[in-house]
Formats: sequence, C-alpha cells, structure tokens
Amino acid sequence: MALRVGLIGLGGVARWTHLPAMEKMDKEKAQLVAVCDINEKTVAEVAAKYGIEAYTDTRRLLDEARLDAAIVGIPPHLHGDLEDRIIERGIPFYIEKPAHRSIDRAIEIARKVESAGLIAGVGYLDRYQSTVDRMKDFLRDDPCGTFVGFWVGGIYNVPWWIKKDQGGGQHFEQTTHTFDMARYLFGNVREVIARGRTGLNADIPGYEIEDASAATLVFESGLMGTIFSGCFQRTGPGRNGFEIFCRHGKLEFHNRSHLIVRQGQEEHRYPNTVDLALAEDTAFVDAVLQKDIQRMRSPYPDGVKSLALSAAVSDSMATGLPVKPKVVPGPASPGFLTPAR
Ligand SMILES: NC(=O)c1ccc[n+]([C@@H]2O[C@H](COP(=O)([O-])OP(=O)(O)OC[C@H]3O[C@@H](n4cnc5c(N)ncnc54)[C@H](O)[C@@H]3O)[C@@H](O)[C@H]2O)c1
Repeated sequence: MALRVGLIGLGGVARWTHLPAMEKMDKEKAQLVAVCDINEKTVAEVAAKYGIEAYTDTRRLLDEARLDAAIVGIPPHLHGDLEDRIIERGIPFYIEKPAHRSIDRAIEIARKVESAGLIAGVGYLDRYQSTVDRMKDFLRDDPCGTFVGFWVGGIYNVPWWIKKDQGGGQHFEQTTHTFDMARYLFGNVREVIARGRTGLNADIPGYEIEDASAATLVFESGLMGTIFSGCFQRTGPGRNGFEIFCRHGKLEFHNRSHLIVRQGQEEHRYPNTVDLALAEDTAFVDAVLQKDIQRMRSPYPDGVKSLALSAAVSDSMATGLPVKPKVVPGPASPGFLTPAR
C-alpha cells in the first residue's frame, strides 16, 4: 500500500523540492495526501491544485490525516514541539536542514528518535549528487591533503534569514550544506576556529547577521580545511562548492552542477545527473517502506552532527576561541515503530 505523506510548510523549499518530487514520486510507493501551512491562502491553493486535504494546524493534521510519513519545511526557529508530537505518534519524518535552531533541542530529539527506533532524516539533498559519488571514489584512492569550501553569493530573500535568533546566520542556515558535505567527504570534525565580519549589508533594513565568515575545520583524521561564507554579493559570480587538493590532482566541485577532475594537464568534467529532490524524498520513502534507515544518506542523528558543526562555528565566531562540536548520540538503530493508526 502506498504511504500516505503529509507536507508541513509550503514556502520556498516545498515549492522547489518536495512538491515537484512528490508529483514525480512512484505512486505505488507514496502519495501526498495532505498539506499544512499557517497561511490559509497558501494551503488552500496548494491543496486545490493537488486535490488533497488542507490543514492550517499541525495538531489537527497529525490527529486526523492518518499519515504514514511527514515531510517538514518550516523555518528553523518555528519548530516548537512539532518533532515531539510527530515522534509521540510514531510517524517517520524528513525535516529540512538545519535540523533545528537549537543544537541542544536537536540532540534531545535525536535521543527520542533513537529510543523510538523511528525512521527520520534531514534534508541534506546535496549528498545525492552523482558528482559526490565520483569525488568519494577519487578520494578513496587519493586522499585529500587540504581543501577550501565556499558558499558565496547574495542573501536568501525570506524575512527570517537576516535575523540572528531566527535563521542563525548564513553559516548556520545555508553553508550548513557545505559543512555537511565536508563531513560526508572527510569524516567528523574535532575542532573549528571561525571569524565573521559585518558592514557590507548595513544598507539592508533589519539585517543582523555576518555578511562573511571563515571557518577552519580540524578533522579527527588530522585533515584541515577552510570554508568561506559570503552573502554580500549584489552581482555574481559567486562560488558554491569546493577546491580539493590531493597528491595526484585537484577536484573542482561546483555544487548542484558539475565536477572537474584535473590531473596534470588532463581535465575531465562530469555533470551531476541526479534529480536531488526526487532522490532525497525517494530515499526517505524507501527507508520507511523497507524499514531500513540506511536507505537514506542523511539519517536524523547524522544531520544533527552537521548542525553541531554549524553551531560550533557560531560559538567560535562569538568567543574568538577554538570550539569542539557537541557530541550527538549515534545513528538510529535499525529497529523502529510502525505508525499507530
Ligand atoms: N534543502 C534546501 O536546499 C533548502 C532550500 C531552502 C530552504 N531550506 C530550508 O527549508 C526550511 C524552510 O525554508 P523556506 O525557504 O521554505 O521558508 P519560507 O519562509 O519560504 O516558508 C516557510 C513556510 O512555512 C510556513 N510555516 C511556518 N510555521 C509553520 C507552522 N508552525 N505550521 C505550518 N506551516 C508553517 C510559513 O507560512 C511558510 O509558508 C528552512 O529550514 C530552510 O533552511 C532548504
């Protein structure tokens, strides 16, 4: 029987990723049956377009829609006790990154997910790129000596993004993709040293976050690399990706686009061939259907480890000191609850 999926939050990410993905999803596997948004007009429009149930209150959605799985795309500071109520009902969930505005709350939720044996994941969709698999293959034979990462461009145009206590800053809300990719490629981080600056976006009313920052990561393996964030550009080009230096070559990774592998005078270019939104949502659905958390590339506890890294960057920028990321309880065990109908 196809899974009954509910989508909470119908803003930018839902429109770019989860709604198109659920349109393309194999209907034998899963169907979008209900949507929820506090904005009545938005939810009515989307529900009418797909001929599905509309809710403006997550409590009613979770009580009445008989969901087998939930996808959540609401701003990081507005989660409240949503995850607790989803876990109480034993509903598997896939939540957008960053997993939460508070690392301590996210760790608490990771513990609950683990003890409930629930399938849950975090929206680090970039892990599903074919170019990322190619980089992992290359790095297995020729390990990274050092690297530089970038997410440099303009601001993300939603009101909460420029508010420190809401979006948390670019490194927390956006470059978290780059920090997550660094963990996925190079392993866990032992320590970070970070600095930020302000002043370039002072003309933006209500702007409260850094407009550029640099974070040096020291990995458990001894590897070191630096990741730059910048949201001061009004005109590009910016840069989103990595420059990875190895003994026998260099990888130039352009996120969500292509990879260039350079070895001596040789150069090979590989496009990403994966529909990332469909890949991440399908992996979640397969994990629920097959009761196998390993189907997903970003299970919830691992997503929280990447959040812990962004939070450590925040602390290092605030204190000027090196910071160790908080310890997050390990990956969820395979056993899990089926949702109570
Ligand atoms: N994976 C990606 O590439 C990607 C891209 C953009 C945003 N995101 C993430 O997705 C999340 C949402 O970002 P966005 O750009 O869609 O934000 P947005 O502000 O465009 O949309 C958020 C929507 O959530 C609704 N909402 C807020 N609180 C709600 C609640 N309690 N119940 C139901 N609906 C509620 C709002 O009305 C709004 O429609 C953030 O965590 C962001 O970091 C991820």
